[in-house]
Amino acid sequence: MIYPQRFAGQVALVTGAASGIGASVARRLAAEGACLMLVDRNQQQLESLAKELDAPESVLIRTLDVADEQQMQEAVTETVSRLGGLHILCNNAGIASNRNPATDQDLENWQQVLQVNLLGVVNGTKYASREMVRAGKGVIINTASIAGLRSGAGGNAYSASKAAVINFTQTSACDLGQYGIRVNAVCPGLVETGMTQVFFDKARDKGIEDKLGARCELLRAGRPEEVASVILFLASDDASYMTGQALAVDGGNTASLNMPGMKV
Ligand code: NAI
Repeated sequence: MIYPQRFAGQVALVTGAASGIGASVARRLAAEGACLMLVDRNQQQLESLAKELDAPESVLIRTLDVADEQQMQEAVTETVSRLGGLHILCNNAGIASNRNPATDQDLENWQQVLQVNLLGVVNGTKYASREMVRAGKGVIINTASIAGLRSGAGGNAYSASKAAVINFTQTSACDLGQYGIRVNAVCPGLVETGMTQVFFDKARDKGIEDKLGARCELLRAGRPEEVASVILFLASDDASYMTGQALAVDGGNTASLNMPGMKV
C-alpha cells in the first residue's frame, strides 16, 4: 500500500513501540515519512521492529522504562540531537492491573500501574513539550482507554490510571495550547495485542472468539492498525483545530449501554 507522506520531515517519539498499538503506529508513521525514536522496555522486540522497518538513519531505538524520568529525558535529548527535532510524541506504553475487587486492592499493583500508565505519560509530556515550546509547535497523543471512561474494561488501578491520562490530556492541552502544541488522547476498546493476547487465545481455544467483540456495535474486536490510523489523524494537520479531546476507538462500545435483551 502506498501512503501519503503526511509526516515527511517530522520526527516522532513513540513509547511502548515494540508491540501492539505502538508497533502499528511506528509502522504507519514510517510509511508516511516520519523519522522515529522508538522506545520500549522490551529490547528484543524493539530490535526486530527496527530490522523490519529497515531504515537505520531515520529509525532509532532505545530500551527504557517510561516511569524513569531520567531515562525519558535522555530519550528526548537523543531524539533532538540525532534526528534534528521532536514534532510528535505518542505516549502509548501501558500495562494492565490485576482485577481484584474493591475490597481487596493491592497497593503495590496500584503503584506499578500508576507509575507506568500515568507518570510515564507525565514524563514524556514534560520533556517533549519543552522542545515543542522552543519550536513553537508540536503534537502529543496519549493512549488512554475506554476503561478510563467506564468501568468493566479493566481492573480498578488500570481504569483509574486511564481516567487520569484523559484528565492530564485536558490539563496539558490547556497549558500548551498557547505554544501551538495540541494534546489529544485515544480511548481504544478491546484490541488484540500483547496485553490482551491471553483473552484471545483462551477464547479461540474455547471456540468463542466472536463473544469478545459482542458488546461492540460493530460486533468485533479492533485491530491495532485501526487505533494507529486515528492516532495518525490526531498527529496530522487534519486535526489542526482539535486539542484536549479523548476519542473513543471502540467499535461503538461506549456509545451504547448495550443492555442484554433490549435489542429487537
Ligand atoms: P502491548 O502489550 O502489545 O504493548 C505495550 C508495550 O508497552 C509493550 O511493548 C511493552 O513492553 C511496553 N511497555 C510496558 N511498560 C513499559 C514501560 N514501563 N516502559 C517502556 N515500555 C513499556 O499492548 P497494547 O495493547 O498495544 O498497549 C498499548 C497501549 O494501549 C497501552 O497504553 C494500553 O493500556 C492501551 N490500550 C490497549 C487496549 C487493548 O485492548 N489492547 C485497550 C485500551 C487501551
